Amino acid sequence: MPSLVEPETNSSSVQVLIVVDSWQGHTAKVGERVADGARSEGAKVTVRSADEATRADLRAADAVIMGSAVHQRGMTWKMKRFVDEVCEPAWFYDDLVGRVGAVFTAGGGAGGAGGGAEAAQVDMLTNLAACGMVLVSLPKDTPGSEHGGIQWGPTIKTTTDAMAPIDPDAMDETFQRAFFHHGANVVRVASRLVGLKLAAANHMPTPEMRAMRTAAEKDRPLDRRWGHLADPANPQS
Ligand SMILES: Cc1cc2nc3c(=O)[nH]c(=O)nc-3n(C[C@H](O)[C@H](O)[C@H](O)COP(=O)(O)O)c2cc1C
Repeated sequence: MPSLVEPETNSSSVQVLIVVDSWQGHTAKVGERVADGARSEGAKVTVRSADEATRADLRAADAVIMGSAVHQRGMTWKMKRFVDEVCEPAWFYDDLVGRVGAVFTAGGGAGGAGGGAEAAQVDMLTNLAACGMVLVSLPKDTPGSEHGGIQWGPTIKTTTDAMAPIDPDAMDETFQRAFFHHGANVVRVASRLVGLKLAAANHMPTPEMRAMRTAAEKDRPLDRRWGHLADPANPQS
């Protein structure tokens, strides 16, 4: 007989990292809504720009939410640099396996959602999936998803139909609701997963390969990735 009692959640202990790249302020603004939604479920939220987010930030997070402006039908180059320089080591050393990942965007191009919001979101999600994360998309019963919601995550159009820019502080609140609830959704999922081991083999790459890479990285102390380690002498710690 299934229990009718809801399992207890411990969302108050969930740590959420929001990594944002925003050139004109719109993505940062809707990122605040995502943060508000996460906090509404009791999470502790850290917001970092794609320039400053570190591997230590990733390792401290139960959930990572990437938010990018849409540039040339994809994520911004700074967000891609974050993926290559910061997420890649986290992928190699299995830092994020079983944690929660999600995305959002803001785009100003032509069309109802701008052009390329979906492509940008899917590209960011593939990175989070590769890191072994549990992905939270945007179910259509999420409040506000009827405005600017695409199935991967919320997005907002930052220009008028004539492509005149809308001030970040003047963006329609209706179109920002989904961002709030996306943050809340992420925390509801993460709160059930904290401490849960998703995979236990950790056999790939082999310990020998990891040791080889660790040794190789010691010879490159100026590599940006080194600056992101909590303990540069021990990247697997
Ligand atoms: C180099 C560049 C490329 C852009 N390419 C796109 C695009 O492909 N699709 C789109 O919808 N908007 C595009 N935009 C518009 C931005 O997405 C829009 O200005 C958005 O508000 C940026 O978010 P931000 O205010 O957080 O920087 C582009 C803007 C720049 C500067």
